[in-house]
Amino acid sequence: MFAKIFDKEVSITFLGHAGFKLVSLEGINFLIDPWIKDNPQAPVGSENLGPVDYILISHGHADHFGDTVEIANKTGATVISIHEISQYLALKGFSEEKNVGMNKGGTVIIGETRITMVHAIHSSSITEGDQIIYTGEAAGFVIRFKNGFTVYYAGDTGLFGDMKLIGNIYKPDLAILPIGDHYVMGPEDAVLACEFVKPQYVIPMHFGTFPVFTGTPEKFKDLMKKMPEVKIVIMNPGETIQ
Ligand code: NI
Ligand code: MN
Repeated sequence: MFAKIFDKEVSITFLGHAGFKLVSLEGINFLIDPWIKDNPQAPVGSENLGPVDYILISHGHADHFGDTVEIANKTGATVISIHEISQYLALKGFSEEKNVGMNKGGTVIIGETRITMVHAIHSSSITEGDQIIYTGEAAGFVIRFKNGFTVYYAGDTGLFGDMKLIGNIYKPDLAILPIGDHYVMGPEDAVLACEFVKPQYVIPMHFGTFPVFTGTPEKFKDLMKKMPEVKIVIMNPGETIQ
């Protein structure tokens, strides 16, 4: 039944919070922000994620960087992240071929999938013991698959005007936007983000995990009534759509 939603055949699985697994048309497995072990919403353990070829990291915070090192070591996946996180991973022993550092505006091509790192308004760090390690800026990704299907994964971000630019340049079919408020945009700003990006579909994320997140999908859905042209897809953790 879900195959009808997008009419195209890229599969998207929600891993709870801000984690997703995307499988391209050629069968390449991409994980985004795999926070599994300590994630109360995670539908499966990291041992049950299936094959993973690439891990995309939006920023260093624990609820996004999550189990990256463990999963990459176990699956042999290559990590794609901003320069500073790739430097951190290099210090952790990641080999160059498994560790792709990039920066905003840049695109890496994996098979026939184009991954562009874009701006996000947020911070980024990794806490290790009694140290806070700077991990560059927070980012989002625009992922364009072989069939043209384009996903804007905003990462953790507040609303910013250049989302209009992302909409104009990449024309995303699907936007995956945070709505939980407090650390990220709330529902009101996520509606403005939809006005800026003009996606056909939107998947809300980063809500409900902790009590501080006051933004809910119900509120978002209600506010989005003024934009009936954008279809809202609310995913349950573990759910897969195509
Ligand atoms: Ni964050
Ligand atoms: Mn977060």
